Amino acid sequence: NRRRTASQTKRLMSMKEEMKMGIFHILYGSNTGTCKDFAYSTARKASELNVQYSVSTLDEYYEKYLESGKEVQENHTMLIITSTWNGHPPDNAKKFRNWMVECQRSHKTDAAKHMNFCVFGVGNSQWNITFLAFPKFVEDTLPLLGATKLSSYEPGDEDEDLQTKFEALQDILWYFFAIELGLSPGIDHKTLVKPAGSHLEFVVVEHEKEEEERGGEFVVTQVKELQADESSRSTVHIEMKVPEGIRYEAGDHLEITAWNHPDLVEEMCTALGYPSDTWLTAVSKSNLPVPSWCPQGPIQLRRILARELDINGIVTRPVIQAITQSLTDDHPYKTKLEGYGGKTQEALDAYERDIVKNGINVVELLSGLPDVRVPLNVLLGVLPTLKKRSYSISSSPKRESGKLTLSVGQVFFKTATGREHSGVASVYLGRLKEGGRIDAHVVTSPMRYPTHHMTPIICVCNGTGLAPFRGFLQEREHLKQLHGEVGPFHLFFGCRSKKEDFIYEGELVDYEERGLLTLHVAFSRDQDEKIYVQHKMREREELIADVLLNRDGRFYVCGDARTMARDVQEELRRIMAKFSGITAEEAKTKFVHMIQEERVVLDVWG
Ligand code: 2AM
Repeated sequence: NRRRTASQTKRLMSMKEEMKMGIFHILYGSNTGTCKDFAYSTARKASELNVQYSVSTLDEYYEKYLESGKEVQENHTMLIITSTWNGHPPDNAKKFRNWMVECQRSHKTDAAKHMNFCVFGVGNSQWNITFLAFPKFVEDTLPLLGATKLSSYEPGDEDEDLQTKFEALQDILWYFFAIELGLSPGIDHKTLVKPAGSHLEFVVVEHEKEEEERGGEFVVTQVKELQADESSRSTVHIEMKVPEGIRYEAGDHLEITAWNHPDLVEEMCTALGYPSDTWLTAVSKSNLPVPSWCPQGPIQLRRILARELDINGIVTRPVIQAITQSLTDDHPYKTKLEGYGGKTQEALDAYERDIVKNGINVVELLSGLPDVRVPLNVLLGVLPTLKKRSYSISSSPKRESGKLTLSVGQVFFKTATGREHSGVASVYLGRLKEGGRIDAHVVTSPMRYPTHHMTPIICVCNGTGLAPFRGFLQEREHLKQLHGEVGPFHLFFGCRSKKEDFIYEGELVDYEERGLLTLHVAFSRDQDEKIYVQHKMREREELIADVLLNRDGRFYVCGDARTMARDVQEELRRIMAKFSGITAEEAKTKFVHMIQEERVVLDVWG
């Protein structure tokens, strides 16, 4: 994969002849920030190699070069790094997409003739139906508008090999720029394939001002535990006030800006050898601007590590490489750490075995190197940014428009090395107190209550996958008051045990008693053999088939993609095949159609 194919080489060579080398455009479409991180790391490398570049979102590129029939005279070489959100483009790539669609519709077959591009697609294969839909669309559509493909499309899977795929593409790219275009004469191969270092310089400054906590707009009004005392796990119900002017619908997500745990931040500061209240200012050593989280004035180290950079996740290979460079040649770990950073299969396997499997984060790695002082500049410039996290809202505005609730499973476990690991966002939310404020915004989701109140509904979930359906039930109660009657609502809900994690039991039973809900709960651990939601579905297969095949009903799934959602989809396809007399293969196609028609809706995570 890492080597260029013959046809790629040929294409690149012919490009070299005809191309007047213009600016290299690094374009990204990103909702959570992953693609933006990749774009900026590409930009840092471009800067190190003296390649002229610009970095912007796809929509900013559209506004600058394509809007209202602008004509581009020179060639543009572009790397497009983008993700998909439920099959749609990310928010900052929508205009670019609309432009492509519009050009295609009006047969503008030379609208993109100035573009020489390659696409790096970022997705998660667990969302299998829409996996990489938008990057694929870009890849297929631009050539129809006259653009030249520089290198075939690279799919990156967050569930597997995102970083390595990205590095492989970078190798091809930089080889092309540096060697074949001769932009960096004399550059050796090792420098070429090395990941980009930091372009930032942090200077410690004297600063008096106490840091102001910029509280978010959402004010917490209640926090309570949903699981029983005897449970070893925790799910937290959080209620907050919806800020003035903000609207949401049942089924929407709330995207949270979470903070790293203060203890982890302190540990990191110790490992770095700076007090957490150190004030710093950042300047850029290259023509790449400082990241948007660096303010004009001083910023406290604590704040950078708490809310801007990811120090909790598994340490990435570029970060390990940056750390390695600060070790003296005779350091006992030098060779070992260098090994993880390499690109051979052996190195990748070692990284997987020692780092990923053990869940080592940057703090743990640095704490194991007490005699090493890694310069701030090196680390702060290469750590990934802390990504926002989305949670399904578990209420409906029809019940109380000024309020919103989340139901958040707390992620904590011991890693293989014995470290207590906790998830950033879930634990941040779980620690909130009444009156606390968070930064968040509402994001629409495919989970929509049907437009007609009589439409029959089947919802399947496990654990906190219940969240959107709690919203649906509140919606339903409102519709019942409005219309006097509502269609059937079946909830298949998977828990471990009636006594431990049957969350919202009281409410659900109450809905059932009032005839608003039919409950089918699968307790997996209350008997010897496992009982899961798909087993409960099998018991009611006729009903499910009837709702979907004869009554124009809706089927919703929310919860764990890897286990529950996968098995539930399989069971649903089996039921459809059985009751409509089609083959398993035909049922697969039918299933995809039903998703496209939004009769089957998945909101799943890995
Ligand atoms: P288990 O952990 O006892 O195996 C998650 O809160 C619930 O989903 C648990 O009851 C869990 O059961 C169950 N679960 C695990 N794997 C599943 C699968 N493949 N399909 C459906 N439910 C599953």
